[in-house]
Amino acid sequence: MLTLPGLIDPHVHTRDPGQTHKEDWDTVTQAALAGGVVLLLAMPNAKPPIFDAETLDLALQNAKQKARCDYAQFLGAGPNNGDWNKNKDLPPRAAGLKMYLDSTFGELRLNDMTLWTPHFQTFPKDLPIVAHSESRSMAAAILFAALYDRPLHIAHISLKEEVLLIKAAKERGVKVTCEVCPHHLFLSSSQSGSGLEGGRSEVRPRLATQEDVDSLWENLDVIDCFATDHAPHTAAEKDSDTPPPGFPGLETILPLFLTAVREKRLSLETLIEKMYLNPKRIFRLPDQPETWVEVDENAAYEIRASEQFTRCGWTPFEGWKVRGRVRRVVLRGKTCFEDGKILAPPGYGKNVRG
Ligand code: NCD
Ligand code: ZN
Repeated sequence: MLTLPGLIDPHVHTRDPGQTHKEDWDTVTQAALAGGVVLLLAMPNAKPPIFDAETLDLALQNAKQKARCDYAQFLGAGPNNGDWNKNKDLPPRAAGLKMYLDSTFGELRLNDMTLWTPHFQTFPKDLPIVAHSESRSMAAAILFAALYDRPLHIAHISLKEEVLLIKAAKERGVKVTCEVCPHHLFLSSSQSGSGLEGGRSEVRPRLATQEDVDSLWENLDVIDCFATDHAPHTAAEKDSDTPPPGFPGLETILPLFLTAVREKRLSLETLIEKMYLNPKRIFRLPDQPETWVEVDENAAYEIRASEQFTRCGWTPFEGWKVRGRVRRVVLRGKTCFEDGKILAPPGYGKNVRG
């Protein structure tokens, strides 16, 4: 039996409020616990988007009633909420600020660069701005971070040019960090498989070439965090004529990486750095005393959507053979998950910015 710290996922879409047929605070935190994640940071592209006091309260109210593991909620950068000096009490109640600068799911997107400036100028510098920015817009976001001398965290990098630019920016002292998702490390654009037919392969950023994937693995030391970008859409939605982009990931991230550890593609220390130490430091998350995850390292099994707790009902890794199963999750002294059963009640989860 292997004991790990309680894992932190800095990139999760709860779909609550607004699209709870895909997922809600209850099912997303069940999926988290089953995956060994005890603290998740929730993205703001809900319905309505979370960008002011009223919408933040709405998300946090739902979370307070339903969440079974710990959490914090991101605020979204919109066209009209850029002056955070007018709302000084809000940022400390949030995980950070999320900016959507590229094609995404939902209504939050800032195209005009003049709209980026006030956010970079006024959002408190002790919390990162997280940018969904790909390729050249990522380069622009890094320039903003350098000009305004503030921490910027690049979400879900997927390309060789991205990891190389972040490496160069870090070498020059720009306060930039980044995350990569399992699907951009384990899947490429040429991949097929029962989890990836038709609309099921749609995700943002798109799955990249094998050269990009190889480059991410070669530059793992540049990557600060592993994040799921757990973005549940139902199997029926994914199989429709207008498939929304996004993959679920909370229940597959740990077995995929533990299998990679077994294959010597990374070390256990690196896994703990990227799934616990670094996200905790970057997002200034508090200690969770008496919290750990017990894993049966040798358990071999096939990933099955039918065994998952997420409401979305599918996984891009259907049928993958993995080694390493979460046996028990203890969060703040309570056994919250054991042998396939969720034991934490709704409402047990705490807002770590509460
Ligand atoms: C995300 C979603 O569905 O909310 N989809 C995705 O493909 N990653 C949106 C996002 O993270 O941009
Ligand atoms: Zn996302």
